[in-house]
Amino acid sequence: MIDISTTLGPLRLRNPTMLASGIMDEDAGSMQRMIDCGAGAIVTKSIGIKSREGYANPTVIELDHGILNAMGLPNPGIEQYGEEIKKLKRTKVPIIGSIYAADADEFASLAKKMQRFGANAVELNVSCPHAKHYGLEVGCDPDLLHDIIKKVKGPVSLPVLVKVSPNIMNIVEIAQTIEKAGADGIVAINTVKAMAIDLQTARPLLANKTGGYSGKAIKPIGVRCVYDIAQAVDIPIIGVGGITTGEDAIEYFMAGASAVQIGSAVYYRGPEVFTVVCQEIKTWMKNHGYRTLNELIGASFQ
Ligand code: FUM
Repeated sequence: MIDISTTLGPLRLRNPTMLASGIMDEDAGSMQRMIDCGAGAIVTKSIGIKSREGYANPTVIELDHGILNAMGLPNPGIEQYGEEIKKLKRTKVPIIGSIYAADADEFASLAKKMQRFGANAVELNVSCPHAKHYGLEVGCDPDLLHDIIKKVKGPVSLPVLVKVSPNIMNIVEIAQTIEKAGADGIVAINTVKAMAIDLQTARPLLANKTGGYSGKAIKPIGVRCVYDIAQAVDIPIIGVGGITTGEDAIEYFMAGASAVQIGSAVYYRGPEVFTVVCQEIKTWMKNHGYRTLNELIGASFQ
C-alpha cells in the first residue's frame, strides 16, 4: 500500500497536491470543485483589506511554454470573501487563506479575520512580482518580513505559511528570516517576473506591461529554489512552479518539498489534474520501490 498523505507542521493532508492561489478560487463553488477533483488542500485567491479591481485587460496570455499573467490582485476584500470561506468550513481538506498587505498591522488584521472565518492556515503573499506596495516589494526586505510574521503569529493560532519569490538574489536569507520569525512553512515559488511584446504593434502584450510567468518553463527555477531553501531551514517547504505531472511533483519532493501546489496545470490538464497527478505519483513510487512520501522528501541531498 502506497501512502502519499503528508503533514505540514500541524496540518494533515490526505495527499500532497494543493490548489495554488489565483486559479479556480474565486468562490466557494469553484474551490469545492477542486476538492471534489482530489486536491489535498486549497489556497484561496490573495485577499486584501479592501476590494480591488485589478488591472485592465489583457491580464493573461498563453505563451509557447507557459502562462504570463498580471491580474493585479483583484479581490472583493476580506469581509465579503469571508462568506466564501465560511461556506467551506466543513470540508475535509485544509483551507488556506492567502492574504496580501503593505504592512504588519494589515497582515495581522487579515490573518485574524481568516481565522475567524474558519480558514485552517494563512499564506502570506509577499511575492506577487508586479503590485506596487505589495507582494515582492514587501517580501524582499528581511526586516519588514520578520516584523510581519511576528505580528501575525502573535494574535493568530493558525499555521502561517509564507510564499516567496524567485525574483530575488537572497532567497536563502529570506527563508532563514521566515523560519527565525516563527513561520510554519515556506511556499516556493511565486511566478517569475516576465514580459512579452507583440511584434505587429510593438507594444507589450499585457496591459500592465510586465507580469508573472508560470507553467512548465519555470519548474527548474522552482526546484532550485526549493533545494537551496531546504539546505538552510527545518520548517516544511511546499513546492510550486510548473508542476504538471506526478514526475514533476516527485522532483520537487526529492528537492526537499513536503507538498506541492498546482496552478497552471489546472488549465492544461483540467481540474482532474489533482487525482491524475496523485495516481502518477503512486505509480512511480510503486515502480521504484518507495512506500511513503517521507522516503522521497529530500532524497537528492546525499
Ligand atoms: O496579478 C496577480 O494578482 C498575481 C498575484 C501573484 O502573483 O501573487
